[in-house]
Amino acid sequence: MKLVPLTPSIGATVEGIDLMSLDQQAFDAVRDAWLRYKVLFFPEQSLDADALCRLGSCLGALMQLPYIRPMEGHPEVIRVLKEADEVGMGVFGGEWHSDFSFLPAPPAASILYSVDVPPVGGDTLWVDMGLAWRKLPQPLRDALVGRIAVHTGKPYGAANAPEESTRFRGSIDIARGNPEADRETRHPAVCRHPETGEEMLFVNPTYTTRLDGVDAARGEAVLQAVYAHCTRPEFTCRWRWQPGVVAMWDNRSTMHYAVNDYDGHRRELLRVAVAGEAPLAA
Ligand code: SIN
Repeated sequence: MKLVPLTPSIGATVEGIDLMSLDQQAFDAVRDAWLRYKVLFFPEQSLDADALCRLGSCLGALMQLPYIRPMEGHPEVIRVLKEADEVGMGVFGGEWHSDFSFLPAPPAASILYSVDVPPVGGDTLWVDMGLAWRKLPQPLRDALVGRIAVHTGKPYGAANAPEESTRFRGSIDIARGNPEADRETRHPAVCRHPETGEEMLFVNPTYTTRLDGVDAARGEAVLQAVYAHCTRPEFTCRWRWQPGVVAMWDNRSTMHYAVNDYDGHRRELLRVAVAGEAPLAA
């Protein structure tokens, strides 16, 4: 397989492999590259929902996710769909986030497979939260070390999440009032990766609501400064989709953002999430 990095830190395209016919040695090489680059892109794949589940299962146990209606007949698969006539509304994942960070054990990995994409637009961006942590100015590091951040799925966290009225109508069916999403969960703001040992930020503007034990205004100012820092272009990669691409990312060490700039075009991806463990303090 040939690895082509997208940036010096995060993201690589993997060429020359068929994900459906990997032997153990090849899969181990993919896994190592996934931990190194945090998000891998595999063009020219041909999967259906069953095949996506088989692929995800190679990384770990698939999760059934709270509050989103899964695909018919596939309780672990979510259809990330916006139809061409669904204009002027929010999209699933249209703000920086780590998937389901409000769960006591958020996913370790997420996998997307592109079925149908706009001719242009609908890109996805990822942030390297390890690099962002290492480059964080000292006063912000001091404000986060040893801190606990509070996460909740309700009401999609922070002030800069999309307006309630514009969120997730249409083809993505979000059930509100789900106790698993509505409760608050506490995670360390700076975590240690359970496999690589890397220290990284684990807060995000969608699900993190506050820093525990910090004055509300001060905590909000810290979080906003941290988000402004993390999302600097030098910590990110951006992917322009074509149909038939698998993106596999480490949800523990990244945030991502689905760009909602393709009104009038259909976009459909399938996704699964792989179980992780409770985040460890750095
Ligand atoms: C997500 O947050 O999983 C959706 C990403 C995308 O649609 O690009």
